Amino acid sequence: MIPPDVQAWNNVISVGSLRVNRRWMSGSAWLTCLVIGAAGCHRADPPQYVSSTQMTELPDELQTAAKTELVKYAGTYQHPLLIAESDLPKPDLARGQAVYQERCVQCHGVTGDGQGEAAKYMYPKPRDYRRGLFKFTSTPYGARPQRDDLVRTVRLGIRGTSMPGFALLPEHDLQSVVDYVLYLSRRGELEELLALTAESEEEIDPEMVEEDLVPTVLQRWQDGDEGEVRPLTPPPKFTSENVERGKAAFLTKGCSKCHGEDGRGQTAENRGNDAWGQPTRAADLSSGMLHGGTRPIDIYRRIYSGINGTPMPGFASALQNEPDTIWDLVAYVLSVSNHRREGQMPLPGLTRPYLPKEESTETSAATDADDTP
Ligand code: HEC
Ligand code: HEC
Repeated sequence: MIPPDVQAWNNVISVGSLRVNRRWMSGSAWLTCLVIGAAGCHRADPPQYVSSTQMTELPDELQTAAKTELVKYAGTYQHPLLIAESDLPKPDLARGQAVYQERCVQCHGVTGDGQGEAAKYMYPKPRDYRRGLFKFTSTPYGARPQRDDLVRTVRLGIRGTSMPGFALLPEHDLQSVVDYVLYLSRRGELEELLALTAESEEEIDPEMVEEDLVPTVLQRWQDGDEGEVRPLTPPPKFTSENVERGKAAFLTKGCSKCHGEDGRGQTAENRGNDAWGQPTRAADLSSGMLHGGTRPIDIYRRIYSGINGTPMPGFASALQNEPDTIWDLVAYVLSVSNHRREGQMPLPGLTRPYLPKEESTETSAATDADDTP
């Protein structure tokens, strides 16, 4: 029987996340380890969660008080605790953490701050879970996602970005790693609330944490669970008339301001930062790679709710008196999305004769490749 910590170390070796884990050991220890295999091989320090900047900027005493409360509710790396209603079944966070360290950490980071070693040159950046903000949800603007939204993202990946799909993971692993993402999110949210409170109140009152901060985190997720966006009207069977009406709405409701008249997003206004402090730009709707999914309901929800943390606004209230327009826009987005495949637009890398001349300098930095800024 191999001792568990050696087994864990072997797993680390076998999955190739060497760059992340290797620095726990000196080079020669590493070599010895490879040579002698499992016998007598101990890894040095296990990974640690990194404190947020807000936390580390607090005076020492407050920092200690805030961190003590964080550990009380969210545990430690060795013993993570999901902040959740106590009557729910306990998730398998140990398994979730193992899967996460194997498959996700290189991009999303040990703490879930999106700063894994591979993240540096990615666009868009891997999600920083600690704000509890997720883009591709079935819930209203600003709301937490439903658990199923995260399961779906992890299963399918996000097309046109570096986020891979994990459809081949065994079901228990997939569910457990989603629980671990939930864990990291809620831990990060509590950390943020603790740091903000410490800063404004100049003290941390354990009773207040229990009665106010922890329930605040829980309530947000509960609201998300109850808040699925259902279409105002049933989906029509799309015809070219929906597409025509959708195109007219696209040009008059402000979509083209960011996405461009042709949906390619190459407009001068189309620059900004997202809530995670990263540069962002409106999706190229013609790329054939809709990030949030290609089902009509996916696109409906993007338009209805907007996209959390990004400049993409929700149109729920702007279009509440003309709910069918949302489906028309869906039809138009779908048709634009299929254009390039149908040969109506040149493929990436080819010249772009249809671009107005004055825009072409504006676009030179933004190539067609979806993952360059
Ligand atoms: C190669 C890098 C990479 C790996 C590995 C990776 N991700 Fe991601 N992930 C990303 C990027 C990039 C995004 C952001 C995409 C965007 O903003 O459109 C993302 C976004 C996400 C999101 C947020 C979706 C949303 O709606 O906002 C979740 C959840 C997620 N990843 C979970 C995981 C899990 C779980 C794993 C491991 C099983 C994993 N990721 C592995 C790069 C990666
Ligand atoms: C203020 C700028 C802005 C306006 C106005 C705007 N969008 Fe967006 N839109 C964005 C940005 C930015 C994104 C990309 C968000 C991300 O994934 O990071 C986006 C993404 C989308 C997506 C998701 C694409 C995908 O990859 O899944 C759809 C669909 C969309 N917009 C449709 C519309 C429609 C339809 C309108 C008008 C009713 C509109 N947008 C108005 C900025 C805008």
